[in-house]
Amino acid sequence: MAQPIRIAPSLLAADFTHLADEVRSVEQGGADWLHLDVMDGHFVPNLTFGAPMVAALHRLTKLPLDVHLMIDEPLAFLPAFADAGSAIFTVHVEAPGVAGPGWPAPVRSRGEGGTDGPAPEAKPHVIDHARLRATLAAIRARGMQAGLALRPDTQLEEVTPVLDAVDLLLVMTVYPGFSGQPFLDGPLATIERAAEFKRAHGAQFTIEVDGGIEASGTGPRAARAGAEALVAGHGIYRQGDPVAAIRALRELSR
Ligand code: DX5
Ligand code: ZN
Repeated sequence: MAQPIRIAPSLLAADFTHLADEVRSVEQGGADWLHLDVMDGHFVPNLTFGAPMVAALHRLTKLPLDVHLMIDEPLAFLPAFADAGSAIFTVHVEAPGVAGPGWPAPVRSRGEGGTDGPAPEAKPHVIDHARLRATLAAIRARGMQAGLALRPDTQLEEVTPVLDAVDLLLVMTVYPGFSGQPFLDGPLATIERAAEFKRAHGAQFTIEVDGGIEASGTGPRAARAGAEALVAGHGIYRQGDPVAAIRALRELSR
């Protein structure tokens, strides 16, 4: 039987003045993982927090910490995040240092009050699969699950040669950088192809979807496409009752 869908509230949308309460409420409300968005102002146009925050949260909760690194050169921080208690360490294939020099997003994510700015120059996707495999192996060697994230315009086929080394495939349905952006339909095809790949090859990685997920529409659509774990920021923490939002997301995304 298939696993029930996993729900991972994204702390980015929580009330930071009551962080401990916000964590405890989703833990008691049935969340499976706590999703933590680490941003460096380079890979994405926003800044959040680093390993000391993860360590503090690890002392506060038993929930597995699902750490999503939206940073350049994430391996530089591998020991710090492992020591902090991260269960999953997810890197972006597009980020410098993960599979080669990396490449910019074709569009900037739309931030809270920020300007969109000019679109960066489009660059070809250059992926060194041996280097990517070594990156993923280094994550596992530190005792964490190896996560690989794809921006909305990155195709599944670009990473299929390394999927045997991946524990979690994170399909982004927004351009990373901010909570509260509208869900993009395009990556649904990536989710479907990832589910098909799992069936065809007996692969074990978990398909996680992140960006614009909520119970009344996008969560169930992502689940029908093959999502096995759903991240939600606004869809849980900005709904008035986060516990009811988790329950609704789980019920409607079966
Ligand atoms: C965006 C982050 C997401 C974000 C999700 O870059 O990776 O995890 O917090 O927030 P919502 O669910 O509001 O789109
Ligand atoms: Zn995220």
